[in-house]
Order: sequence, then structure tokens, then C-alpha cells
Amino acid sequence: LVLATKTQSITTMATREECMGSVKAQLAKIFEASLKVTVPNEPDVEPLIAACTGKFGDYQCNNAMGLWSKIKGKGTQFRGPPAVGEAIKNNLPTSEMIESCSVAGPGFVNVVLSKNWMAKSIQKMLIEGIDTWAPMPPVKTAVVDFSSPNIAKEMHVGHLRSTIIGDTLARMLEFSKVKVLRRNHVGDWGTQFGMLIEFLFEKFPNFEDATETAIGDLQAFYKASKLRFDSDPAFKERAQQAVVRLQGGEEKYRRAWAQICEISRTEFHKVYQRLGVHLEEKGESFYNPYIPGVIEGLTKQGLVEESQGARVIFIEGVNIPLIVVKSDGGFNYASTDLTALWYRLNEEKAEWIIYVTDVGQQQHFDMVFKAAKRAGWLPQGDNSYPRASHVGFGLVLGEDGKRFRTRNTEVVRLVDLLDEAKSRSKAALIERGKGEQWTEEEIESTADAVGYGAVKYADLKNNRLTNYTFNFDQMLNDKGNTAVYLLYAHARICSIIRRSGKDIEQLMNKGTLVLEHKDERDLGLHLLQFAEVVEEACTNLLPNVLCDYLYNLSEIFSKFYSNPECKVIGSDKETSRLLLCEATAVVMRKCFNLLGITPIYKI
Ligand code: ARG
Repeated sequence: LVLATKTQSITTMATREECMGSVKAQLAKIFEASLKVTVPNEPDVEPLIAACTGKFGDYQCNNAMGLWSKIKGKGTQFRGPPAVGEAIKNNLPTSEMIESCSVAGPGFVNVVLSKNWMAKSIQKMLIEGIDTWAPMPPVKTAVVDFSSPNIAKEMHVGHLRSTIIGDTLARMLEFSKVKVLRRNHVGDWGTQFGMLIEFLFEKFPNFEDATETAIGDLQAFYKASKLRFDSDPAFKERAQQAVVRLQGGEEKYRRAWAQICEISRTEFHKVYQRLGVHLEEKGESFYNPYIPGVIEGLTKQGLVEESQGARVIFIEGVNIPLIVVKSDGGFNYASTDLTALWYRLNEEKAEWIIYVTDVGQQQHFDMVFKAAKRAGWLPQGDNSYPRASHVGFGLVLGEDGKRFRTRNTEVVRLVDLLDEAKSRSKAALIERGKGEQWTEEEIESTADAVGYGAVKYADLKNNRLTNYTFNFDQMLNDKGNTAVYLLYAHARICSIIRRSGKDIEQLMNKGTLVLEHKDERDLGLHLLQFAEVVEEACTNLLPNVLCDYLYNLSEIFSKFYSNPECKVIGSDKETSRLLLCEATAVVMRKCFNLLGITPIYKI
């Protein structure tokens, strides 16, 4: 609550005050009131509320046992946890949310939500918009550092994963009214530039005319220059000089560097455009001027030590130190990341800084974060803010169970991959006869949505830490837990509403949603849990939690819709059930939106 007021100043569609918070958060408030009365001598007991897995209720409060162990030695009137639970139940303030409560086992307080309240809440969301269901994380500004490919090197499937996962996390935070700095931390400042620049001069004496077409494939250019570097000592010497001259700011070298970066950028941009991902580049080079100052500060604090000619920071529990100045006096990946972290905290005032890379970089970030804690930039505890989090992910595997590669080339070109996903989904549409029924434009935009959506969803639905196998047939299957199945399910709901011929806006405002049948109530409950699921996905940085929710939503909707007792069109409950269909479609669309997937409205 305190944290919520802190973030008030941000105004987007719905203000903080208009957000009700999740069902869980609302119940927590009610239970908090009861706990204050039940155990007045134990202030600040945090209510523990969870969705029920059993049949006794929708939610449960799990405080009784923990409280009992706290108070039992202190001459309490209670005789064990069930009595504590009983008292928590009896002290609950009246609330229209709750239909009934019961105490089970060792003091769990089970809550059955009021159907009336549930129905009203859903209808209210329909009228006021899904934004009112946004969670409220306790930060105003966050950095999401994602995608971040390296200039002149391949942008590989690992970068694709980072792009997809990072974009989703950014979207979830943005939905939660956090200002998100979407940072593309491109590798634009390594020693590889000496070799690239020197090779550029050699190949194209008038290098400024050497446009993208002249250089052609930048990766091939990189390879050729590497070959030259490894085989010719004189070239190597010149390349090493070039790095020094570039870093010294010599004009000609700067221009060549900028040109190489620009060619890469154009390539990266093609992928981002396809995926509909927006990023702001602040590459490694950006932080370079700040490095000496930051290292000096750390040195003054006594954190930087000499070790085998290098300057390093020792980290407790890690046997290798973090090298911040190499023995040749140069800076490295860690110097840049430490400085970038400093910049983000102090200049950009970010309270949460999130890094999305493969798990292989986990130790690097762990050390950078620990160094920042030693320096006092970050608080000691992992649950306080400002906070830095590494979002690691596993490998993308091919059918053979090895690192994903295509047949001919050793690397997979991302653009080709997206092209194939799109052309396959287009072919599927044609096969289903859409060629005759739809306009060319409809086919194209649907193929985009399905193809790119399938690639994104196949990645996001897995727990990000596990490796996953890239398989077009699987991801484009219209059955099972795939984007195709979900997009079609959404389109079907839209067509139910269209077929009714009713004006849904009018129904929203004039009609009444009720949740009588069990299948209606189950669907309603799942809809209401949207806010807490986004909250969980956001807090734990796990997009798959949202995917699971979406898939379950579509299954629960199917159960409702296919039950003859819940007939929609033509039944006497038509208005209410159409509203329930609409609410499902709205929530599904928001899930798609948060996952970076474009919904489709007809199939
Ligand atoms: N360029 C790096 C790579 O391709 C990823 C950078 C991630 N961000 C960072 N701040 N280190 O592996």
C-alpha cells in the first residue's frame, strides 16, 4: 500500500487508484484487518493468501499455523492453530467479496467468493477496461536490457530468445504502469573493431563509399578479416593499433566504426520490425566515457585490488575475481556492465534492472551484482529495491537435440526462420480454402500473426531456464498448447459474438452478467485471476506463467461453451453468456498483447 502511493504520479489509461488490485490482493486487505484484531500484539503479520487447489473454496488464508508457533509461548488464549484459524475467520470484516468461509485442517481459512461480486467485477472490467486489472509492482522505472546482439557478429537464436522474452517482460511492466527503458546493449566496442576497420581500409580505400552493398554480408566480412588477422602478423599489428586509434577518438577510425555499426543495425532492425519489438540502443560504447570515473570511485572505496597485473574486485563465495581493468590497462565486458549498472541506477534512476541473456552469463551477472552490493549501490537483500535481476534462459535445440543449426549454414539466419514460419502458416490458410474467401491483405496479416505468434509462443510457453527444441510442425499445429490453437480459439469466440447479432457495448451497459452454472462460475473465477497471474509472471520474471494461464483459460472456456446446459445463442441467459464470452475474448487479447502476439478475429 505504501509502495502503491509511491508510484501514483504515473498516469496512463487507468490510474493507480482505479486499479483494484488482484483478487488475492483484495482478500489480503480484508484478512489483514482480521489479523490486526485477532493478534493485536503481533503487528505487521503479512496475510498469506493463496488460490485453493482443493474443493473447499476459491482461496485460502494460511496464517494460522505460523502465527500459532509465534504466539504459543506467550500465554495466548488460543489452544492450537485451528482455534487461531477460527478466530481469523470470525474477525473478518463483512465484505461483499465473500460468500462464506470455513476452517479446515490445521487452521486454513477457506473462502468461497460471492458469485454476485464476481459477476459484477467482471462486468465492471468490461465497462472500464482491462487496464483496471493491471497489477501494481512497487517500482516506477525499470530497465530491461535485452536482445543486445554484437555488431558484425551473428544475431543468433539466443538473441532471438532474449528479444522475445525481454519484450514480454517489458510489456508486462508497461501494462503495470512502470516506465520501462528498453535497452539494446549492443556489443559495439570490442577489440574486434581494430581488425574490422583495418580490413575495411584495405578492401575499400574509399571506405566511405563502401556501402552495405559493397560490404555485403557483414558476417562474411567478419570472417574474412579474422582470417587475415590470424594469418598475417603485420595486419594483426595494424589492427591492434587501430583499436588504440579508435579508442583515442581519431576521426577516420571513428567514422569507419560508425559505418560498420550502421550496417549491423540495419540488419538487426529487420528482425525487430518483423517481431514488432521496439528497443532503444545504448551500446557498450555509450558507457565507455564513464568507466574511469566509476572504477576510480570503487577504488576509493577500497574495493579494487591488484591481482596478476590486473585490477580486480573479489567477490565472496566466488573463487575467481571480477576483472575490471585488464593487465594491458584496457576495459572489458565487466567494466562496461558495472558502469552501465551505475549509470542506470544513478543517472536513469531505475529501481529494477533486468538483464535477459542465456544462462551461460549467469556467473558474470552474479558477480557484477555482488560487486554493486559491496559498493552499496544495491541493498543487501534480494527482495528489496533497487534491484538487479538476471533473467537467464536455456538453449534452442534442433531436432537432433544439439544446438539449433540449419542444414547448409552453421548459423540460423533469423530472418529466414521468420520467413519460413510465415510461409508455412500462409500455406495452411490457402489449404483451408481462405485463398477464395479472403483478400490478399487478410491472408498476409493473418499469416504474419500466426507465423510470428507461433515462434514467440513456442519460446515463451517453456520455463525459460529449460532448453527447448525448435520445431515448425509442432509450433504450427492447430491443436495443443500452441499459438495457432489459441489464436483460433479467440477468433471463434469473436465469431460467436458476431453471430448473435447483438451490440456488445449495449449489452455491457444495459444487460447483467450472472454466474449461475458451475461452468460459468469456473470461467468467471479464472478470468478474475488474470491480475494475480500477471503479477506473478512479472515478479518472478516468468512469461510461461502467463502462457499457462492463457491455455487454461481457453480450455475452461471450451468446457463452458461445449456444455449444452450453457447454450449461448438463443438461450434465456444469452445476454449474460455473451458478456462472459466477451470478457474471455478481452482477457485473451490482453494475454496476446503481453506476449507480443497479434490476435486474429476470424478463421
Ligand atoms: N552482447 C552480449 C551477447 O551477445 C549480451 C549483452 C547483454 N547485456 C549486458 N548488459 N551485458 O552475449
